[in-house]
Amino acid sequence: MQTIRWKSPSNIALIKYWGKHGVQLPSNPSISFTLNGSHTTTTLSYTAGKAKVELLFNGGQNDKFALRAKQYIASLGPYLPFLKELDLHINSENNFPHSVGIASSASAMSSLALCLCSLEKEIIGTKLSKSDFLEKASFMARLGSGSASRSVYGGYVSWGKSQYIPESSDEWATPLSFEVHENFRELQDTILIVDERPKAIGSSEGHRLMEKHPYAQQRFEQAHVHIATLLKALKAGDENTFIRIVENEALGLHSLMMSSDPGYILLKPGSLQIIEKIRNFREKTGIPVSFTLDAGPNVHLLYPAPDKEAVQDFINRELLVYCMQKRRIDDHIGKGPEKLSSGE
Ligand code: PMV
Repeated sequence: MQTIRWKSPSNIALIKYWGKHGVQLPSNPSISFTLNGSHTTTTLSYTAGKAKVELLFNGGQNDKFALRAKQYIASLGPYLPFLKELDLHINSENNFPHSVGIASSASAMSSLALCLCSLEKEIIGTKLSKSDFLEKASFMARLGSGSASRSVYGGYVSWGKSQYIPESSDEWATPLSFEVHENFRELQDTILIVDERPKAIGSSEGHRLMEKHPYAQQRFEQAHVHIATLLKALKAGDENTFIRIVENEALGLHSLMMSSDPGYILLKPGSLQIIEKIRNFREKTGIPVSFTLDAGPNVHLLYPAPDKEAVQDFINRELLVYCMQKRRIDDHIGKGPEKLSSGE
């Protein structure tokens, strides 16, 4: 048996992807940054066979994940036809729990896609440049989970065609081509775990509800405008504009959920209390903290590295009281996936 192993981080969107069409194509462009510490390690072992796929999650059975990953692998037949002559054994290990406000599908699907692209290289002997390899991996990851397409790269990443990002595509993600201002280069992200129980409505259902959403068109147009504004802020180091856009996107995402038919609420009272505290702290201290939200109740607190001590103190004093068992995950912007040798 041969083995391939990739470690791939999750990411958090600043401009949200919410709504899709066709084969996992986004209804609007998005921008995220890739996390550093919160990752999935996928180990793929293969041998000659007949397309049998065995899947473990954290070393054990997980029927939901196994079904999703098997369907995903089966859907890749047109791109990776050699898969029908192999048996695969896959172990996917997350170093962070499910449903804590970190998209586990982004890290799980991107690390699996990277393993499959490395497998293609080994089996077919395809010689791709590093950038072509990553583009293909991003394309493959997208087919598994839209947001996973962005996790193939480190730093700030966009996905979805935008007139403001010439190299952008709906089919794969691309890293931002300019160097962001130093204010945003070492962005910290502390994820405040308000509630880690599984969500009542998952993101697939949320995307589906956007198909008939009365505000969908305005939302998709708004995302394009927000992309242009955020790009300018990232270049110029404009923290006020960054905060304005990022928080508007977070609240906008949840407003779309509330105004879907049927409407639903993923935020908890503790999420709102944290948001209020963050805004008060910013006003009082002038420290440019901001928040974003994934499709769940947990709050991502974003802040510059030099303010770490003051913000950590604020978290301990004022925010942990709203967290389930006082839990939080300290993470920051990261460099992207890593191929691990088999023994690692
Ligand atoms: O990749 P999906 O289908 O799980 O959708 C993710 C959507 C959000 O996390 C809410 C936003 C985003 O752009 O990541």
